[in-house]
Amino acid sequence: MPSPSPIKPSPVKLYDFHPPVEDFRSAVLRGLSLPQKMLSPQFLYDKRGSELFDAICQLPEYYLTRTEMDILRANAKDIAAALGDRSLVELGSGSSQKIRILLDAAPQVATYVGVDISRQHLQEACAALMADFDGLDAIAVCADYTQPLPIESIPELRNRPTIGFFPGSSIGNLEPAEAIAFLKTVAVLGDLIVGVDLKKSPIILEPAYDDTQGISAAFALNVLVRINRELGANFDLSQFEYRAHYNEAKGRIEMAIASLCDQTVHLGDTEIGFKAGETLRTECSYKYTVDEFQLLAMEAGFQPVQVWIDRHQLFSLHHLKQM
Ligand SMILES: C[S@@+](CC[C@H](N)C(=O)[O-])C[C@H]1O[C@@H](n2cnc3c(N)ncnc32)[C@H](O)[C@@H]1O
Repeated sequence: MPSPSPIKPSPVKLYDFHPPVEDFRSAVLRGLSLPQKMLSPQFLYDKRGSELFDAICQLPEYYLTRTEMDILRANAKDIAAALGDRSLVELGSGSSQKIRILLDAAPQVATYVGVDISRQHLQEACAALMADFDGLDAIAVCADYTQPLPIESIPELRNRPTIGFFPGSSIGNLEPAEAIAFLKTVAVLGDLIVGVDLKKSPIILEPAYDDTQGISAAFALNVLVRINRELGANFDLSQFEYRAHYNEAKGRIEMAIASLCDQTVHLGDTEIGFKAGETLRTECSYKYTVDEFQLLAMEAGFQPVQVWIDRHQLFSLHHLKQM
């Protein structure tokens, strides 16, 4: 019998600060006990969730990814100049596709650090970067980016000049006050390049978060599959449906899973009641005008230096400097 081929070691160095499953359990129990049931969007991203998010990025309705990539391509030279030769730290790096545009334009960047909660997806993305960019050191940091980045435990970042990249409008997942606190926390990285989705008509916004193929719905409902698998719950997915609505007064898309009937779900020993029509909020996505976001950044101690926008004024990319 042929001997099994050895598992190829990943060339990517991984620093793993993934929170333990007990933290997931307590966060879910806490979120499900609130008057408006809610979960942190980070829980959407297990391996399957990351794959579904990648599929969302390809949807015709999801203008965000292709527009931000267009902005990056159109301004790659300017952005590359802003990066200099600092180590590039991407927060919520996902499949690390957008960074490729910047790395092409900035061969002087020698170190890339991807920070993401979805461990396997992160490692695969960093390995693909190492394979495709000669001389690039791509380091994977599996961590919750809303918590202070443990820079002291990452030798490649300690005492090194860095710049943060936070694309994908992920900042919109945070409440404005949380976004300010987050920016203050990541100020440790120095300058930031942040992708922010702009306010626009619900006619464009709502389909972007609730597509005709049902991928956005599958992405949201996958969190129930994950809770069933990892925490031993018994959500019956056929008794829930996905909804996305633009709340114009708050300037945010609200994404939720609605219960189709009165029902009780078990999570370990805990019983969770749902009334028919009651929702479990999975995510919000705040939209900003350029002025609104610049004010928010200034409240966090940043000086807006430059903003790049596409010609249809759908999306913005901000370069922020420490004041
Ligand atoms: C909206 S996707 C954006 C992905 C990619 N940056 C892009 O622009 O297409 C959000 C990414 O952030 C990660 N993420 C979400 N919440 C996180 C958290 N609290 N800490 C670390 N990563 C998180 C997800 O796993 C996912 O890869």
